Amino acid sequence: MKVVKTIEEIRQEVRFLKEKGRKVAFVPTMGALHDGHLSLIRLARELADDIVVSIYVNPEQFGPNDDLDSYPSNLKDDLAFCEEEGVSLVFTPDTKIIYGDEKKYFKIEIDELNTHLDGGSRPGYFQGITLVVNKLFNIVEPDLAVFGQKDYQQFQIIQQMVYEFNHDIELIMAPIKRADDGLALSSRNAYLNEKERALAPLLYQGMQRVVKAIQDGLLKPESLLKEVQKDLEAKSFKNDYLGVFSMDKMAPVTSLQKGKRYLLAGAVYLGKARLIDNIIFEC
Ligand code: PAJ
Repeated sequence: MKVVKTIEEIRQEVRFLKEKGRKVAFVPTMGALHDGHLSLIRLARELADDIVVSIYVNPEQFGPNDDLDSYPSNLKDDLAFCEEEGVSLVFTPDTKIIYGDEKKYFKIEIDELNTHLDGGSRPGYFQGITLVVNKLFNIVEPDLAVFGQKDYQQFQIIQQMVYEFNHDIELIMAPIKRADDGLALSSRNAYLNEKERALAPLLYQGMQRVVKAIQDGLLKPESLLKEVQKDLEAKSFKNDYLGVFSMDKMAPVTSLQKGKRYLLAGAVYLGKARLIDNIIFEC
């Protein structure tokens, strides 16, 4: 496994692999790797000959009150993880390499896919993500890239970006990896103290309750969604959003149709952590 920091090096290494006819998969991350990231790497390994992992905490996707300064990082463990999983290349650029110092003239604007869910709650978040993923795609030029369903809106927006900007990259979505008690794994779970960690699975449990009720025939889940949010608040969660959204446009849906697939997505604050989760279900 090679660890490289510069654009020239990673380009050269990937070119070298491609010249040998190897299929290259890319797994972009912000590090503090956990079993969720690992599941992406393992899926990539099934689909390609070589895996490139990037570890880069992208400041452009953090708002002024976000946790950029405290975002967990553990490069040594991350590299050991990658090595063990048979990753060929790890790209660990710093911000000077990715963004340089000079004035920038371009911005990415995202239309209505960015209005709701995290797009609505975190101004600039998906602009920052698409900016860095665009750069990373242009730098690495993989054959395919793996992203997690955990960040479903991110996947959907990047999918649209790949289509509109003509990136020749196949996108693969990996399922959400959960702890035994149902909590979706996340680097930010490290912010939870013991008491909060014990409460954290209630978000997923509440969401499962909503999906079950819908599948049992509840086609207007609005009041149940409010009830679940109230229950969470009583347990010291602070709600951001919880709702049913269309799978493609990420638009809120209040009246469901039998036989259609939807996304139930939620975001809450618990102590210092912001937790997000989702369930794709058929009505
Ligand atoms: P990060 O939060 O490190 O996540 C990297 C990838 O791991 C994303 O595709 C995310 O959806 C996936 N992932 C995280 N937790 C997961 C879980 N429990 N199960 C399955 N997959 C999971 O997402 C980002 O970084 C950044 O926005 C990035 C795309 C790297 C751009 O900076």
